[in-house]
Amino acid sequence: MQEISVYTNNLTKKFGDFIAVDNVSFEVKKGEIYGFLGANGAGKTTTIRMLCGLLKPTSGEGFVCGFNINENVEDIKKRIGYMSQKFSLYNILTVKENLEFYAGIYGLDNILIKERLKKITEKIDLTENLDKLVEDLPGGIKQRVALACAIIHEPDVIFLDEPTAGVDPILRKKFWNIIDELSFQGKTIFVTTHYMDEVEHCHRIALMNEGKIIKDGSIDEIKKQFFEKNIYEIAVDNPVEAYNILINKKNKIRYISLHGPYIHIITSLNKEQLIQLITVNNIKFTELNISEPTMEDVFVSLIKKQDM
Ligand SMILES: Nc1ncnc2c1ncn2[C@@H]1O[C@H](COP(=O)(O)OP(=O)(O)OP(=O)(O)O)[C@@H](O)[C@H]1O
Ligand SMILES: [Mg+2]
Repeated sequence: MQEISVYTNNLTKKFGDFIAVDNVSFEVKKGEIYGFLGANGAGKTTTIRMLCGLLKPTSGEGFVCGFNINENVEDIKKRIGYMSQKFSLYNILTVKENLEFYAGIYGLDNILIKERLKKITEKIDLTENLDKLVEDLPGGIKQRVALACAIIHEPDVIFLDEPTAGVDPILRKKFWNIIDELSFQGKTIFVTTHYMDEVEHCHRIALMNEGKIIKDGSIDEIKKQFFEKNIYEIAVDNPVEAYNILINKKNKIRYISLHGPYIHIITSLNKEQLIQLITVNNIKFTELNISEPTMEDVFVSLIKKQDM
């Protein structure tokens, strides 16, 4: 049986009367990249903070590396790395000093610190920046330093809370290469993101809304469950007007969303009927493609269902 790194059962956190995390149950296997997705305020950070032993659950249980988050917080802390949403690097220290500081906090001795420092700076490509002050670094490099600080003690489970927020696409790709490699080496990665393209790196994902997990599974499983049909992608000369016409045909349209100049639509209408409905309203078709739904389609559709 495959080893389970993170397990929760009805994990719940209330702040006063407000339920931030509502009976959340899931498991993450060793070596998996598990993505947590959800709108702002969905409860992702609160879940991570409970799993890292920084916040006490109101009810329910959780285990990380086999240790109970309600009872064995110190055992957990030794085995995890946490890169928080607003990661805390020391701006007035150099990259090397930051790494040494975090290694010290995790209890590594001087010989081990030296060894790990060399290893991690090569792995995360920080060698050229070691003696620079953190405050002088661009955002994408700061983010890599924060990751290096979170994993210098070689933890088994790594929690990354929006690690790529505000980072350009090239650096995001580089960052994900590092995450893929860590997973390949057997590290378990629990990561939150708002970037839908990043979920392609995740072995499994959970979609969270208002404190609840509304769906979890592999990307293929989730896509298949919600879109047994393919999706039409249409381009017209007036997408907003076309959207408004189509959205009023509620009984024929199962899903519709605007993506810039394109409309994504799942409908019981066939191609000809769809074209006719639009052209009869004097809107000109420029393109019609049949494609697979994107994760963004899945996400929007799930959230809409919740709100109905
Ligand atoms: N210490 C706290 N006291 C009161 N409410 C809190 C506290 N921490 C979080 N919340 C609330 O709990 C909800 C979930 O917050 P959380 O930070 O977990 O969301 P999130 O999914 O991480 O959002 P984001 O994508 O914006 O980071 C929010 O409504 C937030 O305002
Ligand atoms: Mg958050």
